[in-house]
Amino acid sequence: MLVAYATAAGSTRGIADRIADRLREVVGDAAEVVVRPADPELDVRSFDAVVLGSAVHDMAWLPAATHLLRRARVTLGDRPLWCFSVAGVAPRDPVRRLVTDRELQRVERGFPSGLAPRDHRLFGGVVVLRGMPLWGRLFWLALGGRPGDHRDWAAVDRWADGIAAALPTVRRAASPAGDERPAARGTSAVPPAPGR
Ligand SMILES: Cc1cc2nc3c(=O)[nH]c(=O)nc-3n(C[C@H](O)[C@H](O)[C@H](O)COP(=O)(O)O)c2cc1C
Repeated sequence: MLVAYATAAGSTRGIADRIADRLREVVGDAAEVVVRPADPELDVRSFDAVVLGSAVHDMAWLPAATHLLRRARVTLGDRPLWCFSVAGVAPRDPVRRLVTDRELQRVERGFPSGLAPRDHRLFGGVVVLRGMPLWGRLFWLALGGRPGDHRDWAAVDRWADGIAAALPTVRRAASPAGDERPAARGTSAVPPAPGR
């Protein structure tokens, strides 16, 4: 399976690497997991499942990720797709979760119509105020945002566990007799992954 990412400053790549590491840990030999930047030449057709993430700039994915998403919509068919966004506001508490839910909706407006990812999750990233437009800086500070590394690795791991549990190859590997029990640590086999 493919874990692809678009990043401007690197924090999204860190999350993609963590998701891939966790998937490898959980699925073992049942699937090969590769991590790639969302380059124009990246062809999703050779993968059975895709996880695609992007940094959020101005409430939208970076163009490289949006372009890959458009290609994936056409070529993935019914193979599963999971999406994640990496933003300056982390869903740490109910108030910020309201904000991040709205942000997810805004980001999804930029997704191609007809796209049906199994899940779309927002994670906090690394915030450096330098380079952020003034209006974005003010808006973000007004929401109680602070510079620094807001990545919640436990939340990333839980999300990856949910993906692993939903992979058909993992269910087969866990159940040679053919039943549908998931392999991954008691998580549900049915997507979407655990609550935001
Ligand atoms: C130009 C710019 C615009 C940004 N716009 C947003 C935004 O609209 N919403 C948000 O939550 N975070 C925003 N951020 C914060 C980034 O999403 C956050 O720093 C993220 O971790 C960046 O990921 P990266 O390190 O992979 O590039 C912005 C950052 C920059 C530099």
